[in-house]
Amino acid sequence: MNYKSLLDLDNIPSHIGIVMDGNGRWAKKRGLPRSFGHKAGSDKVVEIVQSAYNLNIKALTLFAFSTENWKRPNEEISKLMELLIFYVKTQLDKIKKNNIKINVLGDYTKFPPRVVDEITKALQETSSNDKMILNIALNYGGQDEIVRATKNIVKDVNLGIIEVNEIDNEIFKSYLYTHESPDLDLLIRPSGELRVSNFLLYQLAYAEFYFSDVLWPDFDENQLCKAIYEFQLRHRRFGGL
Ligand code: FPP
Repeated sequence: MNYKSLLDLDNIPSHIGIVMDGNGRWAKKRGLPRSFGHKAGSDKVVEIVQSAYNLNIKALTLFAFSTENWKRPNEEISKLMELLIFYVKTQLDKIKKNNIKINVLGDYTKFPPRVVDEITKALQETSSNDKMILNIALNYGGQDEIVRATKNIVKDVNLGIIEVNEIDNEIFKSYLYTHESPDLDLLIRPSGELRVSNFLLYQLAYAEFYFSDVLWPDFDENQLCKAIYEFQLRHRRFGGL
């Protein structure tokens, strides 16, 4: 089935989040080391960013490294860092040409200096782009994000920048890493896991969930279009009738 041809182009979700999961299992199925799965998964990042861009999606948020991923073996972490450097380096020109803004969710300064340098450069060089926001979650946790926002709000209250009575959802959202992105419409999790895993906890409030058994390295443009197609069949009520 070609799902792209079924899409209602006037009802494309503005903001999609993806938990990129299943790289390890993809490699294991082929008798390959896990790092091959991460490499194949990274190639899919490139394809899905391009597809999202072509579909006029305003914001795409990808879970690339969680605060819990530090528990993995050093060798696997190093491989992920290498891939990050490689992809930021090789894709940056195209990202700039496509007017895509890169934004990082999480404290990426805890990464090795070479990664920090590449990412900082990408953030600086795309900061005024506005066709699409590519949010990359790196050393990210949803609970951490909420705690961080709360601390920053308290600081601003103490400085007299805002008043306690002013704090509402809009103000709170402005302290989250995604403050420049529209509200999250759709969360996609491939690989058969039915969990949120500390991703975008605040932003998920009214998002539609799409779970798929396809492993991330097999998740292609048609899979993305299938998720959007199913999103378009849903009736979102936002608490109303
Ligand atoms: C989950 O699969 C995937 C990750 C922890 C890393 C995701 C990272 C990438 C796709 C590559 C780097 C990102 C960019 C932006 C180039 P898993 O290892 O948990 O798989 P498993 O559940 O099958 O073991």
